[in-house]
Amino acid sequence: MSTEEIICRRLVGRTAVITGAGSGIGLATARRLASEGAHVVCGDIDEEAGKAAAEEVGGTFVQVDVTDPEEVENLFRVAFDTYGSVDIAFNNAGISPPDDDSILETGLEAWKRVQDVNLTSVYLCCKAALPYMRRQGRGSIINTASFVAIMGAATSQISYTASKGGVLAMSRELGVQFAREGIRVNALCPGPVNTPLLRELFAKDPERAARRLVHIPVGRFAEADEIAAAVAFLASDDSSFVNAADFLVDGGISGAYVTPL
Ligand SMILES: NC(=O)c1ccc[n+]([C@@H]2O[C@H](COP(=O)([O-])OP(=O)(O)OC[C@H]3O[C@@H](n4cnc5c(N)ncnc54)[C@H](O)[C@@H]3O)[C@@H](O)[C@H]2O)c1
Repeated sequence: MSTEEIICRRLVGRTAVITGAGSGIGLATARRLASEGAHVVCGDIDEEAGKAAAEEVGGTFVQVDVTDPEEVENLFRVAFDTYGSVDIAFNNAGISPPDDDSILETGLEAWKRVQDVNLTSVYLCCKAALPYMRRQGRGSIINTASFVAIMGAATSQISYTASKGGVLAMSRELGVQFAREGIRVNALCPGPVNTPLLRELFAKDPERAARRLVHIPVGRFAEADEIAAAVAFLASDDSSFVNAADFLVDGGISGAYVTPL
């Protein structure tokens, strides 16, 4: 077998649970992990999108609202009952609704909703995944934070940013606590990704797009596949010494002062 073939099949026999698998980064990751040989359990609140993702990758769909403890328990139980292990948890579902804005405008309800979906959900998913992983003595948890967890923006989404900061700190602590049990926990920090929503927004407002692009050394947004490739690395044994990390996949935004013209 060539090196390329070995690298591309790193997850044979592993079971991966992905939340928010119906769209964007989650969908790209479902495709990537399945292509590397994993059994993929696609969790999503959106039945149509989640089912389509699971069908496409030959996996299992579980409808889940990641803010509901029992539904989250059920998601991981189905993964274990179907495939016999829970090796990878990609806790990725998240929202950034328009009513989460500057602190001056954002109401308590909007604040709480974003905290529930983006941060409490990660707590619930880790809490549900860990018992399986502890029994196996093996596991990789990847929690989706964001580059905004480590960089400030004048175009604020205050609850979103705070929720991602929470994901970062929680992941670090879990990575330290469970390291000697063979479980790694990392926070993935994607830079802005070229999603349909982003494309639509910036087509309407090119100045808004330009204001963001100027900060990115590589001069473009990420493709979801590029984020999925990083998740596959963190999920696999290739990252066996990567733990409790703020794993930036941001095209260099967070390292930049002056970008190339
Ligand atoms: N897109 C970006 O530029 C970007 C950058 C950094 C971080 N992120 C983060 O990456 C993650 C995925 O983002 P995306 O752009 O792929 O989003 P997306 O909107 O394309 O997909 C999110 C998925 O999560 C699902 N979802 C939403 N609420 C849910 C709930 N309560 N329970 C279960 N599923 C739910 C949606 O149905 C959807 O399928 C999010 O956590 C987001 O904050 C995105």
